[in-house]
Amino acid sequence: AAAQKGGYDTFMEKEIHEQPYVIHETLRMYMDHTQIKIDELDKMDWHFEDFNRVYFIGCGTAYHACLYAQYLFDKWLNIPSFCMPASEFRYGDPKLDKKSLCILVSQSGETADTLAALKMAKEKGSKSIAITNVLGSTISRLADVTLYTCAGPEIAVASTKAYTTQLVLLCVLMIQLAQKMNCSILDVDSLLQDLQNMDVHVEKILSQKELIKDFSSLLKNKKDAYFIGRQLDYVSVLEGALKLKEISYIHADAYYAGELKHGPIALIEKGSVVIALAMQENVAEKTLSNIEETMARGAHVILITSMQKVSSDYDHVFKIDNIHPYLSLIPVTIVLQLIAYYAALQNECDVDKPRNLAKSVTVE
Ligand code: G6P
Repeated sequence: AAAQKGGYDTFMEKEIHEQPYVIHETLRMYMDHTQIKIDELDKMDWHFEDFNRVYFIGCGTAYHACLYAQYLFDKWLNIPSFCMPASEFRYGDPKLDKKSLCILVSQSGETADTLAALKMAKEKGSKSIAITNVLGSTISRLADVTLYTCAGPEIAVASTKAYTTQLVLLCVLMIQLAQKMNCSILDVDSLLQDLQNMDVHVEKILSQKELIKDFSSLLKNKKDAYFIGRQLDYVSVLEGALKLKEISYIHADAYYAGELKHGPIALIEKGSVVIALAMQENVAEKTLSNIEETMARGAHVILITSMQKVSSDYDHVFKIDNIHPYLSLIPVTIVLQLIAYYAALQNECDVDKPRNLAKSVTVE
């Protein structure tokens, strides 16, 4: 097993470090420089402009990838879209018909609830696109169209490289759907440019892992952590909190920063750890004022931001290059993976095989 870990201590550490490469490979599969090329989709005789609703379905980390995709879809297209964990979708009596499109995301392509959701969609005559990491998986065989993340085998139970490759692939797919549905995306060129350079942005985060390790020592002996963010940053805080609880067993919750004052702030006390994201320029200042409310109550804050100027009142600031706001969640996610990873090591947890969890949940 040591050889399989390629010199790293754990599979998770190895998989975190593979991200620049696998992101690049995934993009290479569906893009020619800044030109999107999804042959699998081009050969379908679908009337894209006729779709009446689009569902995004997945479980766990893949569900977070779905939240991201739906956010983009909703920004760019005028068709009603919904995002649901597969276990809710399948029992929620969704309005499916021949004009609906279901987009299913599953690393393994075997998750029972996601598979059941796909079968349901097919029975109702809906169209389906699956995003999976495993060639020949059950979901890949059943979906009308299957697109693959090129993450390679993911061994650690907590998903890292599969997730970030899902994000880039979903971004490409959403742009392509917008084009096929005749919706224009204003700044598509800058988006595609930043996408093409994503491996460089990710590499830059990995090169700062010692700083991230340092910050994560704030979590030593803590029982709870609070993740806050607004807009797309909320997707990242959900994933960051999930990663932390999965592998370090620290109780972590994610909140919309603006919702803090409606309840969660009651929990903040001296020594609470708050991990805050301010990557979305239009709401960053708002989030900063939420952070100050937690600091006034004695919280220790790790701020992850792309803002140029940040007050010296913040002790733990991690700066990220200013890239397109719809892509910034990728480097942010890597920071959050590393925070969770180092917190788990401090707690002496088995990061590759966390208690009670399975890599692929094939029973309900
Ligand atoms: C399990 C894993 C998670 C994963 C989820 C969905 O719960 O522990 O890491 O996100 O299943 O798996 P899938 O293979 O469908 O993406």
